[in-house]
Amino acid sequence: MVLRIALLGVCLGMVAQAQRNSFEPGQVWLDTEGKPIQAHAAGILVRNGVYYWYGQDMTFGAENKVGVSCYSSRDLYNWKREGTALPKEALPEQFRDTGVCERPKVLFNERTGKYVMWMHLDADKYTVSEAGVAVADKPEGPFRFVRRFRPLKYDYGYKPDCCNQRELGNTFRDMNLFLDDDGRAYVFYASEHNRTMYVARLNEDFTGIEEPAVLGKTWARILIGEEREAPAPFKYQGKYYLFTSGCTGWLPNKAALSVASNPLGPYVTQKEYPMVGPDAELTFRAQSTFVLPVQGKPGAFILLLDRWNPKQLSESRYVWLPFRVAADGTVRVVWRDRWDLSVFDKELR
Ligand code: DGJ
Repeated sequence: MVLRIALLGVCLGMVAQAQRNSFEPGQVWLDTEGKPIQAHAAGILVRNGVYYWYGQDMTFGAENKVGVSCYSSRDLYNWKREGTALPKEALPEQFRDTGVCERPKVLFNERTGKYVMWMHLDADKYTVSEAGVAVADKPEGPFRFVRRFRPLKYDYGYKPDCCNQRELGNTFRDMNLFLDDDGRAYVFYASEHNRTMYVARLNEDFTGIEEPAVLGKTWARILIGEEREAPAPFKYQGKYYLFTSGCTGWLPNKAALSVASNPLGPYVTQKEYPMVGPDAELTFRAQSTFVLPVQGKPGAFILLLDRWNPKQLSESRYVWLPFRVAADGTVRVVWRDRWDLSVFDKELR
């Protein structure tokens, strides 16, 4: 009888996964249906007590074979697949299949009541380098594609390069969004062919940058000439922090943590290296994608990283690690094989 019920369950695809109650950085992470979570270069939105995890679905490997997936959770350990929030078909053809749609991030706009997704769209060996924006009525989508563009044109002394920046505007690659306490939002992105990071305030509905764009007032060049990518911003006690990586494709490199008193900078990179543990100098063989403030635990953060597997990108793993900011503004992100949220009540007070 038990066997029959179990078999029936399997047939109906109803086999419940054991509840998870810890994080295991670098290990396969199954969703509530027992399938590996496919949401790389993640961004997380918190809405009405629910966490929504968006990311690149790389089930079929590199580039954009599926689109942007969405998972939901109330406890951060157990994630239910909500579906493909932005299917590749919603994008211009150039960005499907052999094109890319990377590092999707979503904000909720209080004024419009819409969910707004930004992403890095690219094609032709990363020479198109544009921002994409899509909008939805519900967090799980479906997101409707709104626009593709390079938000800023600024003559930094254009050199001949791949990307027609003088004509088309400055490149838009690795990106992130940040919503400040005053309701203003910002996009961070690697520009100038990855030489310099840009940060620009968004317009009221979050579907573009604030116009007219004025350097130093509505947008800024930060980490100038430092060749950083994978921006992961967060705020703590009035200071703006930004994790970044170097630019080495899918290969890991050394992270940095920079800090500013204003979202537009200037950002100063801290001398104290934040990562501690095996392969710390290679950011635990991973690359930053997001910083998540843990709900209900002020000052508790989780750094989300991707451990890319360049040979088989679908097998890339998630590395989530907890941290707090010390009184002197420094951060220590310590490697752990396994941990749970109670670390914030014990060692990470
Ligand atoms: C590094 C970036 O951080 C990733 O998002 C991706 O664009 C790879 N480069 C591609 O090589």
